Amino acid sequence: MSKNIETTAIHAGQVVDRQEKSRGVAVHRTSAYVFDSIQEASDLFALKKFGNIYSRIQNPTQDVLEKRVSELENLPASVAFASGTAAIFNTIINICSQGENIVSASNLYGGTYTMFDSILPQFGITTKFVKPDDFAGFEAAIDENTRVIYGEIIGNPKLEFLDIQRLSAIAKKYNLPLIIDATFATPALLNPADFGANIIIHSLSKWIGGHGTAIGGIVCDAGNFDWSDAKFKLYNKPDSNYHGIIWSKDLGELSNLAFILRLRTVPLRNLGACISPDNAWIFLQGLETLCLRMAKHSENGLAVAKFLQNHPKVAWVAYPGLESDKSYEVASRYLKKGFGGMVVFGVKGGEVEGAKFIEGLKLFSHLANVGDAKSLALHPASTSHSQLTPEQQLEGGLTPDLVRLSIGLEDIDDIITDIVEALEKI
Ligand SMILES: Cc1ncc(COP(=O)(O)O)c(C=O)c1O
Repeated sequence: MSKNIETTAIHAGQVVDRQEKSRGVAVHRTSAYVFDSIQEASDLFALKKFGNIYSRIQNPTQDVLEKRVSELENLPASVAFASGTAAIFNTIINICSQGENIVSASNLYGGTYTMFDSILPQFGITTKFVKPDDFAGFEAAIDENTRVIYGEIIGNPKLEFLDIQRLSAIAKKYNLPLIIDATFATPALLNPADFGANIIIHSLSKWIGGHGTAIGGIVCDAGNFDWSDAKFKLYNKPDSNYHGIIWSKDLGELSNLAFILRLRTVPLRNLGACISPDNAWIFLQGLETLCLRMAKHSENGLAVAKFLQNHPKVAWVAYPGLESDKSYEVASRYLKKGFGGMVVFGVKGGEVEGAKFIEGLKLFSHLANVGDAKSLALHPASTSHSQLTPEQQLEGGLTPDLVRLSIGLEDIDDIITDIVEALEKI
């Protein structure tokens, strides 16, 4: 039976245990699982049979989470990780090798930018950054060693909306997988695979968890990319990391799942950035109310953006749901259920007055996170993106005056009163 998203978010992936009859998903705090026989153990290790071996590779609570997010994205399979950051790193090294490169939108979360710009080069993987709306630039940056096109659906921190359909057309033309970090939209607002994305990543730590209480990430595979092109070396040569398997050829009916099967059995298994069962449970709890919360975050976000737009002390506002916003035309083609809870703006008087604004907030918490039920505020240039040079910050659209708000679920009048009072202090 195909179900609506609100129902899927509450039920998908769980089969009620007929012995214990627990309605809530159980937290399986176990490291390992008992094999029935030598044959079963060997079949599990050889991927002839799917099942639990060791919780670094898979855990039943994690399994419900992965199945539920897969169903919410309408995709065949997912793998959860200890963080969104680990999800991104493991995804990249599951495709790229030394000497190969990524072509990425430049407006990334600061940690991802640093990973691409300074950490991956240690392993011989480089990144060419392109402005998110420069499609000719994306095409020009692709060369014979490019293996991935990467972008964030709503860029952090300037909130430009990425036109995934246009990027997907370029990815298809050069036979490259399109990877989309959809953290800022969540499956409640958008399914990027409907528009041509091949791999979707979420930091679960944000709106999916929804309460600022756990760190996790997930990678979803649309199963719609053909890895048999010889340029994808990890998929077309015997893999010494897994019994000499040739992932693009030896999986038979499962060959469309080569990426996600390798993700679990090679990088997750051997590098170990696994999610804890307790955190998997927290994210399942978050998913149950995700649709309700994203609707409310979006409603409150739009109200704050409209309020700020008309305030005399505000120099500029960016929110993809404002009709005057640079991203509105593209975002409104994709987002039919709301534009999310992030609002960024600059006050007249720039960085100095912006700092006074942040320090004047009382209801908002001043911290480095987004996607909490509680409203949050941050000055990214001096915190989450401070490891970037001023030039890199500007390339990603981050000006020194930018104040980032993650609008929570409190009463909108209370949120706006807090903003008014803080603006009065500058
Ligand atoms: C868009 C985006 N992707 C990925 C991450 C990294 O996720 P995590 O903090 O779960 O490692 C973040 C963190 O802020 C983010 O904003």
